[in-house]
Amino acid sequence: MKQFRDRTAVITGAASGIGLELACRAAAEGMNLVLADIEAARLEAAAAGLGIDARRILAQRIDVSREDEIAALADAAFDRFGGVHLLCNNAGVGLTRVSWELTTADWEWVLGVDLWSVIHGVQHFLPRMIKQEEGGHVVNTSSVAGLLSTPGMAAYNVAKHGVVTLSETLYGELLAAKARVGVSLLCPAWVPTAIHESARNRPDRFGAAKPAAGLSAAYEERMGQAVKSGRLTAADMANEVFAAVMEDRFYVIPHRKINNAIQLRMDDIMNLRNPTPLS
Ligand SMILES: NC(=O)c1ccc[n+]([C@@H]2O[C@H](COP(=O)([O-])OP(=O)(O)OC[C@H]3O[C@@H](n4cnc5c(N)ncnc54)[C@H](O)[C@@H]3O)[C@@H](O)[C@H]2O)c1
Repeated sequence: MKQFRDRTAVITGAASGIGLELACRAAAEGMNLVLADIEAARLEAAAAGLGIDARRILAQRIDVSREDEIAALADAAFDRFGGVHLLCNNAGVGLTRVSWELTTADWEWVLGVDLWSVIHGVQHFLPRMIKQEEGGHVVNTSSVAGLLSTPGMAAYNVAKHGVVTLSETLYGELLAAKARVGVSLLCPAWVPTAIHESARNRPDRFGAAKPAAGLSAAYEERMGQAVKSGRLTAADMANEVFAAVMEDRFYVIPHRKINNAIQLRMDDIMNLRNPTPLS
């Protein structure tokens, strides 16, 4: 996708972090914006902060884990702007616990926000994006957690691995269908955002997570520190994404130092070795 001006971007999780920076970049490119997030006040502030004509922005408070709300977002976007050209399935949450301490509600929350949201995005946006003459591009935010299996993050890892294979499958299918819709997969490592405070967005229907203790607490502490110490910024992620969209490049893995860990995992698989523990 080479043309952004006057085209329309839909960005989920747009009130904070990577989503907010994607919105800033899309606004700078002259795109119309459909911004979605579960945090209404932050979303409103984010939309106002972009400083662009209100007629070019639609901000909608939604819970991306709910199919009816993604369907309504798609309808609203196509109704308002007549097309959707860049779809960023970006909203996400993290939860750090050892696998045996994750409750069913924990799994449902994390898989709902991090995986089902992307599935619903594909279901409700893609058919219309494929049909429109101008084509478009889908950007799914996974994580290096979708390429590795870091301890203490089972629900997140499962969801993000799901996003990787969904995106790779979609890429092949769109090629086979000769559709003018590209796909990119964003897999960041640590980026200083509010992801380590994801509990703020846990809907009441899932109840609160049990406080972390023991090994879970140690992993939680380490995850929080790692996020805060991330060297590449959310703005760097947005720049990488836009470069990839322009080049029609699938894999967007900005933290290149992670290559060794990915290679080690692949070598373990190819050599039928037991998984090398990740620190
Ligand atoms: N920050 C990192 O280190 C990192 C690393 C790899 C991948 N990611 C991924 O990047 C994406 C963006 O996260 P971020 O780091 O910017 O975190 P963030 O917390 O700053 O932003 C996430 C946004 O998603 C929104 N959100 C959460 N639950 C939602 C729901 N049910 N419905 C709608 N919106 C919801 C939040 O309100 C927030 O605005 C996520 O998919 C995350 O998994 C982040």
